[in-house]
Amino acid sequence: MKSLSQHTDYGDVGLELGDLHSDPFEQLAEWLRTAETEEIFEPNAMVLSTVDARGEVSSRTVLLKGLSSDGLEFVTNFNSRKGRALADNASVSLVFPWYPIMRQVIVRGSAVRADDATSDRHHSVRPRGSQLAAWASEQSEPIADKQILEARMADYEQRFKDVENIPRPEKWGAYRVIPTAFEFWQGRSMRFHDRFSYQLDADGAWVITRLQP
Ligand SMILES: Cc1cc2nc3c(=O)[nH]c(=O)nc-3n(C[C@H](O)[C@H](O)[C@H](O)COP(=O)(O)O)c2cc1C
Repeated sequence: MKSLSQHTDYGDVGLELGDLHSDPFEQLAEWLRTAETEEIFEPNAMVLSTVDARGEVSSRTVLLKGLSSDGLEFVTNFNSRKGRALADNASVSLVFPWYPIMRQVIVRGSAVRADDATSDRHHSVRPRGSQLAAWASEQSEPIADKQILEARMADYEQRFKDVENIPRPEKWGAYRVIPTAFEFWQGRSMRFHDRFSYQLDADGAWVITRLQP
């Protein structure tokens, strides 16, 4: 294993204001396409941080399942730890950690539940096994034994054995993160990284600002 004190010098590919789209959603879409072509494992994986009613922060990885100027969508269990936190506090932070290409994107904003049609659409394209698992799992709850979960999975397989299109469980669906800020980070040599933030001004326009590394 690499020692924790080992120093890696980052790249020489710079990021200039002129390289950036005026629209941060377009910028994110472009960097996502690069992450895909660079064959990063799960390029759409992002670390989602939430804050619960007691002010406790928690983070976990989720997959980006939809990106448009309306926001960033992910799917999960509404009763999970993150779901419970979001019910009390919609504020979130997202991080795309693209270490192999020395890039990071941070998004701050608030998460709202998508409408039922959107959740249904995400559910309908999932593999059958994932649909059944969404029924069987009370995500984030403790369970005494894995066998209990496997038995529950078998029950749902039985229940839906003659059903071609498994319905979406009510406890599962999509959230949409509506951003108020983005930050695009490009690693550079000597820790002289390039950072640009996009912030919404009072008129709803995105203002781009270079940040110190
Ligand atoms: C690469 C990766 C992708 C994941 N994608 C999702 C996802 O899209 N939705 C989800 O609910 N959990 C996903 N998980 C699991 C979560 O990180 C987490 O364990 C789970 O959602 C429970 O989190 P919570 O107890 O904080 O609510 C993923 C984990 C990894 C490592």
